[in-house]
Amino acid sequence: MVAPSNNIPTIFAAFGATGDLMRRKVLPALYYSYKHGELPKMFKVVGFSRREWSDEEFQGYVHEVLEEHAKTKISEAELLPFLSMFEFQRGEFGDKSSYDDLKKTFDGLDAEWGVCSNKLFYLSVAPEFYELILSELARSGLTDPCEPDQGWTHVIVEKPFGMDSTTAKQIDELLGKLFKEEQIYRIDHYLAKEMLQNILTFRFSNNLFELPWGNKLIEGIHIKVLETIGVEKRGPFYDGVGAFRDVGQNHLLQMLALVTMEHPESFEAAAIQKKRADILSSLDVLSDEDMKKATFRGQYDGYRDIEGVLPSSDTETYFKVRATMSNPKWSGVPMVMESGKRLGEPLKEIVVTFKHPMPCLCPPNGAHHKNEVIFRMEPREEILIEFWTKKAGFSFATERREFHYMLREQSAHVPYVEEYAKLLLDCIRGDQTLFIGTGEIREMWRFTDPILAAWQKGVVPLESYRPNSREVLDTARHVK
Ligand code: BG6
Repeated sequence: MVAPSNNIPTIFAAFGATGDLMRRKVLPALYYSYKHGELPKMFKVVGFSRREWSDEEFQGYVHEVLEEHAKTKISEAELLPFLSMFEFQRGEFGDKSSYDDLKKTFDGLDAEWGVCSNKLFYLSVAPEFYELILSELARSGLTDPCEPDQGWTHVIVEKPFGMDSTTAKQIDELLGKLFKEEQIYRIDHYLAKEMLQNILTFRFSNNLFELPWGNKLIEGIHIKVLETIGVEKRGPFYDGVGAFRDVGQNHLLQMLALVTMEHPESFEAAAIQKKRADILSSLDVLSDEDMKKATFRGQYDGYRDIEGVLPSSDTETYFKVRATMSNPKWSGVPMVMESGKRLGEPLKEIVVTFKHPMPCLCPPNGAHHKNEVIFRMEPREEILIEFWTKKAGFSFATERREFHYMLREQSAHVPYVEEYAKLLLDCIRGDQTLFIGTGEIREMWRFTDPILAAWQKGVVPLESYRPNSREVLDTARHVK
């Protein structure tokens, strides 16, 4: 996990340079890394898009995006060194000569720098364009290193990694034809969250909890990603996807993997990715009979009025799913994943509940003594360990106390930007620890597919819920 130097001459080629992901995440993240002195000294962003723009127009666009993001004016002088890293290359995804032109731009930069630079391809485009773009990249020689041992090529792929196992496999096969696994960087920004990186440190840098970590002492795991925001302007995308594919198939399953995975043999990326994939492979697939007891789906009132959402849509905006694992360490432990939009105050956390001690030093008929370890990302990034202690005084009474470690206030965290900055830098450094491996993708869909299929068949009815309230959590309480 220790990254090598990031000071490697790099060209970052952005396909769909004016796309939504570039605007909301990548450009602010690059600027954040630049301000923290983390970008390589020789670094260029080549934006590829069909607009008729000059370099200056592209730079003007980047300036606007950064101001919009910072919600304040940023002076030309302050931004100039950063903006001068941006070049524009007009091109069509399906036009061969556009790729040949791009190759000339790359060769020109390498000649100017006098090095064979590393090339990083970022696709901010809909997955249906992947095949076209990736094949053209290979045909034009853009993905070939200058010499076998000089200048790498990495490609960054964003979720959704397909819509189900079949489509995910197609994307992976296509990527696999053109790139080796160590060149493919699949982004799940949750893996770059400070608190989630902390889970591995908490578990594997300390000896406190690793022995009891498993079904002998742990009673249950509950993962919650309860959001305040709704679907907002993402109707056309979200309606075809739904909450479970949007965050369950990836973010929540990754959280589950981090909290349950075995100790890796080393802290190298491949060893960590393997352990995440291994634990995901022990998830039991739910049968149709399990679905009613183990899953729940809901949609908030008003969702169907959103632009781009079908008036008769039965897409879920909330889900709760109980998973189990067939392995000696975790069998019998319910693992509940729950997430939804418009659920009031945000709450994003993993709660690990320990069994009641037997026999127990607690007053008869008193409160149950279940310890909890909570990894919380919102509203604050913190780890809590809840335990019981004797109340000071003459009588024997117990009270609940907590050990509390706060990483920082949520306000100190710039949503998405920090995570993307970390991920882009790791990609430049060649560290895949926080990226999803192909084995993980396969296992996550293996678990997800049958649930989505059962919901589509209507095995579990879609319930509606009142937005900006937690009522639906109560309606779904039978899933535990
Ligand atoms: C994204 C989903 O991947 O994650 C969004 O597409 C969701 O719908 C978001 O809101 C949650 O991420 P975060 O970092 O805000 O918890």
